[in-house]
Amino acid sequence: MARGRNGGTARVPSLIVHGGAGPEPADGRDELRDGVRAATDAGWRVLVGGGRALDAVETAVRVLEDHPRFNAGRGSALTSAGTVEVDASIMEGDRLQCGAVAAVRRIANPVTLARRVMDDGRYVLIVGDGALSFARSVGVAECDPETLVTDRERRHHAGAAKTPVGGGTVGAVALDRHGTIAAATSTGGRRGKLPGRVGDSPLIGCGTYADSTIGGVSCTGEGEAIIRVVLGWRALDYLKEADDPGYAARVAVDLLVEEGGGQGGLVLLDWRGRTGYAHSTPFMPVAWMSPALAAPLVPS
Ligand code: GLY
Repeated sequence: MARGRNGGTARVPSLIVHGGAGPEPADGRDELRDGVRAATDAGWRVLVGGGRALDAVETAVRVLEDHPRFNAGRGSALTSAGTVEVDASIMEGDRLQCGAVAAVRRIANPVTLARRVMDDGRYVLIVGDGALSFARSVGVAECDPETLVTDRERRHHAGAAKTPVGGGTVGAVALDRHGTIAAATSTGGRRGKLPGRVGDSPLIGCGTYADSTIGGVSCTGEGEAIIRVVLGWRALDYLKEADDPGYAARVAVDLLVEEGGGQGGLVLLDWRGRTGYAHSTPFMPVAWMSPALAAPLVPS
């Protein structure tokens, strides 16, 4: 099949992963860093084995969805009704194919459901009960919703403890050997949100975007603010202009704060595999990997 955009051009692979922008965690800072390191390791194994960027970001995000300290999959924030409703999206930057699910219950790995939406090709975003029906139709297993609820979130919801947020929204961006860039983001959303509330993570151009001629991005933070400034797309626009991933990330986060009126962060990667990240919050666990490194780099 003819490939579009950058796809098909040999490149050195690269991967960057985040575990959510938020306040300084009261405990378990190292656990959060170890989590993003493990996710990067898993995604990197896909890339060095010659696998696709899409598979690498899905794999990395699944690791964090399964990790109870991150606000995605198991460990998700609870709604005001005490339920888990998750959002996720995934995109590949050759043909701008993408898939997303929002406000979906009973799904432990929503990034995989988003991938199925993308692979199916008829729709980009499916929400709520429709997303659950779609999951059943494509064989994505549903789970007992109680298995997604951690003691930490249950205690917080009950008001028994002001348990600080641990990790946040999770995401990954990868470049594979074929020159394809992919990005994915997954979240439980805001603590105490109204059931049915949808944030930026499943919205293409807001929480996630990939264009193999420019780069890929995954955002985290206050979803309403991220949506207002279409943060993902704007970050790639800055990247295209400035040709500097670190600078583009910083300018995009400034935009989020100054024009969006919210806090957050993002990771991005350009068509050459150079990575960048920025956050306006005190903490955002990040890790990245390239062939120049012996092991994932996890800044302190
Ligand atoms: N950024 C995740 C959310 O607001 O839902």
